[in-house]
Amino acid sequence: MSLTASVWMLFFVGLWGRTKPLDNGLARTPTMGWLHWERFMCNTNCDADPDNCISERLYMMMADVMAAEGWREAGYQYVCIDDCWMSKSRDAGGRLQADPRRFPGGIKKLADYVHSKGLKLGIYADVGTSTCAGYPGSLAHYDTDAQTFAEWEVDLLKFDGCSMDTTLLEEGYVNMSKALNRTGRPILYSCEWPLYEWPSQKPNYNTIAETCNQWRNFADAYDSWSSVKSILDWTATHQDIIVPSAGPGGWNDPDMLVIGNFGLSRDQQESQMALWAIMAAPLLMSNDLRSICRHSKELLQNRHIIAISQDELGKQGYRTVDHFEVWERPLSQGWLAIAVLNALEIGGPRRFSLKAAPGWKTCTPLCNITQILPQYEEVGVQIGHQVSVNPSGTALLVIMPINDLLF
Ligand code: GLA
Repeated sequence: MSLTASVWMLFFVGLWGRTKPLDNGLARTPTMGWLHWERFMCNTNCDADPDNCISERLYMMMADVMAAEGWREAGYQYVCIDDCWMSKSRDAGGRLQADPRRFPGGIKKLADYVHSKGLKLGIYADVGTSTCAGYPGSLAHYDTDAQTFAEWEVDLLKFDGCSMDTTLLEEGYVNMSKALNRTGRPILYSCEWPLYEWPSQKPNYNTIAETCNQWRNFADAYDSWSSVKSILDWTATHQDIIVPSAGPGGWNDPDMLVIGNFGLSRDQQESQMALWAIMAAPLLMSNDLRSICRHSKELLQNRHIIAISQDELGKQGYRTVDHFEVWERPLSQGWLAIAVLNALEIGGPRRFSLKAAPGWKTCTPLCNITQILPQYEEVGVQIGHQVSVNPSGTALLVIMPINDLLF
C-alpha cells in the first residue's frame, strides 16, 4: 500500500472506531514503569554480583529510587520482574515459586513492599512449557498460576511465548486472559503473542486487542541505535495493520526504552523517547535508575513528552513522510504531535520545514507551535516553522490549529 493510501486508511479506521478492547479497566493510557530484562537480563549470580543479580533486592532498590527521585510522580508506576525469577521446579502443590536464595521473602512480601512505595508490581511467565530462559512454563497451569499471582497481589503479568506450538498460541493467550479475569484481581496483561505468530501467519489484531492490554509485535530491544531503528522501521512498514488496534485498554508494545544505558547517543535517546510517545507505546524503562545520568533522567521525566504519550484520545501515531521520517500522532483538542526524525546517519544537522508535514494542512491558516525537542520553546503562532535535526536525532513538536483567530 502506498504511504498516502495507508494514511487515509488509518484516518477512516479512526472514524469508524476499533473493535472492543479488553475491558479490565487497566491501561487506559500506555503503561509506564520499569522492566529488568534489557539491562539486567538473566544474571542470577548473586554471590559475584549482589547489586545487579535478579533478586528481591534489585526490585526493592528500584522501587526506592522510583519513589524518591520523581519517577513515580512523572507517571512511572510499575516495577516489573522479567524472566529468571523462578525456582527451576514448581512446589509440591504444583505452584510456581520464586528462587528461595534470591527471593527469601517471596513475591507476596515484595509486592507489599512495592505497594508501600505507591507503586505496582509486574511479574513474568510463559504461555508454553518453559520460559525463554528455561524456567517452568505455564502450559496446563493457567488457572493455578493466575490464582497464585492474584494471591501474591501482583498487578501486571508479562506472558512470553517461548516453547509453544504456534498453532496453540491463540488458545493459550486467550485462556490465560480468562484465568486472570476469573481471579477477580485487575492484572494488566502484557502479551507477546503476535511476535511469535508473525513467522507463521498474520496475527488477528481484533482478537489480540480483546485479550491483552498490550502486545509485542517485533524483536527484543537491544542497547543500540540499529535495534531502535529496526523497531521503528518495522512499525512504520506494518502501521496500516497495527495502528488501528491501539487505543485505551490495549497498545502495541515496541519493547523497552533503553535510554540511560550505553548504546544510544544523546540524539538517539531523544529519538527513542519522542517516537515511543508518538507510537502510544508503553514506556517501560530498562536501565539502572540508581546510577542514571542527569540528561537521561530529565529526558525520561520530560513532562511535555509524557503528556503526548499519555494523551487521553489514545490514538497511536504513524509515519507520514519517509525520506526525512515525519511521524504524526493526533492528540485531544484537535492538536497534533509531530516528530521529525533525521534518519540519515551521515553529515550534520538538516533543516526541515514543518509546512512539508502532512499534518500542517490542519493549520488553517495558522498554528500555535510548541517545540519540545531538541529544546523546549514556545514558538507561538506562526505560518510555518523550520527545525534543525541532527543525524539520528528527532525534533518533537505539538501544533495547535488556530481556526477562528481571524474572525
Ligand atoms: C524473550 C522476550 C524478552 C524477554 C526474554 C526473557 O526474548 O521477548 O522480552 O522476556 O524472552 O527470557
